[in-house]
Amino acid sequence: MADESGFQLKGSAPERYERYAAPFMAPFVEAILEAIDLHPGAAVLDLACGTGFAARAAAARVGPAGRVSGADINPGMIGVAAEHASRRYPDIEFTVAPAETLPFEDAAFDAVVCQQGVQFFPDL
Ligand SMILES: C[S@@+](CC[C@H](N)C(=O)[O-])C[C@H]1O[C@@H](n2cnc3c(N)ncnc32)[C@H](O)[C@@H]1O
Repeated sequence: MADESGFQLKGSAPERYERYAAPFMAPFVEAILEAIDLHPGAAVLDLACGTGFAARAAAARVGPAGRVSGADINPGMIGVAAEHASRRYPDIEFTVAPAETLPFEDAAFDAVVCQQGVQFFPDL
C-alpha cells in the first residue's frame, strides 16, 4: 500500500515539511475549516493529515469538548504530528492508516477534512 500511495516523505523530510509547509498552508487550512463550519464539541477526522497542522487548527476550533483524529499512511508524518500536537493539543489522536482501510466506525465523525491528500490515494 505504501508503495502505491503518492507523496511519501522519508528521513528528516516530515519535520522539514512541518517547518516550511505549515506557515504557507495556514490560510488554506483556515478556509477549509471555515467552509465546514466546525462547532465546539464536534468530532473531526483529518485524513492524510501529514504532520497534523489541519488537525491542530481543528482542535483549536472544536475545543476540549470536541474530538480530533488524524490518519496518514506515513509513520514518519504521524510521528512528527504527534510530537507537535503534544505541546498544545494533547487530545488529538494520530493513527497510521491508509485512507482505503480506516480503523474507524461508520459515522464516527461529524466532519472529515482532507487537504492535499486525495490526489495521492491509489483508489479514490
Ligand atoms: C501533501 S501531504 C498533505 C499533508 C497535510 N494534509 C497537509 O495539509 O499538509 C500528502 C499526505 O497524504 C498522505 N497519503 C498519501 N497517500 C495516502 C493514503 N493512501 N492514505 C493515507 N494517507 C496518504 C501522505 O503520506 C502525506 O502525508
